[in-house]
Amino acid sequence: MEDHRTDALPQPDLRELFAADPGRAERYVVHVGDLRIDYSKHLVTDETLALLQELATATDVFGLRDAMFRGERINTTENRAVLHTALRAPRDAVIEVDGENVVPGVHAVLDKMAAFADRVRSGEWTGHTGKRIRNVVNIGIGGSDLGPAMAYEALRPFTARELTFRFVSNVDGSDLHEAVRDLDPAETLFIVASKTFTTIETITNATSARSWLLEGLGGDEKAVAKHFVALSTNAEKVAGFGIDVDNMFEFWDWVGGRYSYDSAIGLSLMIAIGPDRFREMLDGFRIVDEHFRNAPAGANAPLIMGLLGIWYGNFHDAQSHAVLPYSHYLSKFTAYLQQLDMESNGKSVDRDGRPVQWQTGPVVWGTPGTNGQHAYYQLIHQGTKLIPADLIGFARPVAELSDELKAQHDLLMANLFAQGQALAFGKTAEEVRAEGVPEEQVPHRTFQGNHPTTTILATELTPSVLGQLVALYEHKVFVQGAVWNIDSFDQWGVELGKVLAKRVEPALTEGADVPGLDPSTAALVAAYRNLREV
Ligand code: F6P
Repeated sequence: MEDHRTDALPQPDLRELFAADPGRAERYVVHVGDLRIDYSKHLVTDETLALLQELATATDVFGLRDAMFRGERINTTENRAVLHTALRAPRDAVIEVDGENVVPGVHAVLDKMAAFADRVRSGEWTGHTGKRIRNVVNIGIGGSDLGPAMAYEALRPFTARELTFRFVSNVDGSDLHEAVRDLDPAETLFIVASKTFTTIETITNATSARSWLLEGLGGDEKAVAKHFVALSTNAEKVAGFGIDVDNMFEFWDWVGGRYSYDSAIGLSLMIAIGPDRFREMLDGFRIVDEHFRNAPAGANAPLIMGLLGIWYGNFHDAQSHAVLPYSHYLSKFTAYLQQLDMESNGKSVDRDGRPVQWQTGPVVWGTPGTNGQHAYYQLIHQGTKLIPADLIGFARPVAELSDELKAQHDLLMANLFAQGQALAFGKTAEEVRAEGVPEEQVPHRTFQGNHPTTTILATELTPSVLGQLVALYEHKVFVQGAVWNIDSFDQWGVELGKVLAKRVEPALTEGADVPGLDPSTAALVAAYRNLREV
């Protein structure tokens, strides 16, 4: 592979590749479900792709994939199975963890969620004072927030518009304040979403939300049962918090937080879009699961996308990957992918604990087009860094837009196509000169091109298509982790900051001395305390 990279210098030129192969635009396309994934604008040849597939074979990506689907404990550092795929398995599937079929449990929880969601949506579930619930506030962080918040935004046109949904994650009290300041506690349901039910941000916010509720409803503790439900794996802690375990929706330790929004963690979303749409979304996930499991390497979308990322990260020193959705509804999609990808593959030791000798996960970033075009695309076009990007777009605008707003959709998509074109093919100095540009301006107006993009196109952003997109990225991240031989399913790197925050907090709240604080942090703490008193 390294030889291929070296031999290929200077890198293949996209203009030349397309000129040499009139069929490239059609050949380098893979279809999965409703997604058309075009990878023709990548700096690869058939030989590159074949070598990348050899790399996948040599690192036994498909072996690990099969072990994951079988329910083996491939999350070795936590000794857990990795079975988010079981969350969208059909009712009659059999997937065993330690000899027990987990699928009936998955469907029992989905049914319980559906019954509850229907009661809230219909107004049958009332609050403590008998008023119907009109506001749903999800309190969670990381995977217990980003997934439902992202999917709620993505599927807004499918949501019950008469209900208000808010998502509170930050331990900064302003987050909860802004979320509830205009709500009537009598009409508000809090969903406390936490796999562990020990996460300090979530428990702190949930405690404050309970105080807000009780204050608003005259202090009767019985109100909690009608206004708080929990989504968790930890029944004991849920009960300890004061939430009736009958009002708890369960999931399991084989669901990673960042892979969990199609579990009970999606309850707020299910209330928003209804159980049928939620199931359509699960069907979408399953389409891509089956594709990943069965499609041959040459037509396997997550494998191809994963390997392309490796091509740039490991053989071209690309440090980041941009995800640029041309849909306002996907405004939180990249933030969601940041956790999915960076918490999964931000690792520097291999599965055996040895330092890896290669780059692992990229920095994932991006915001919806066309806004980014007027902010940071300049750097992608003419900067010195190689930034592979995914452009995601839809053929149809959402149905409820006015005709005038629908007509803007072609302009939106024209921008997507234009960006892919400009990034790939640029503008040569000759072309610039031919426009009569003065010679001294030519270098500034020349676009080098050869910036790789994948274009993902679907008809429209439905629940199923969203499920397909998320599963596509889940499995892409899996492929990369498998090639790098890292554990993509733990997140020990988050722990140190949590421990240190607990140690520093008494210095702020009680003015206590913190033994062993480094001089820089001690000075910051002292400055903070002084400024606070001014
Ligand atoms: O950031 C670490 C993490 O453990 C994530 O993996 C997880 O999604 C998040 O915290 C929230 O955890 P919990 O759902 O247990 O509150």
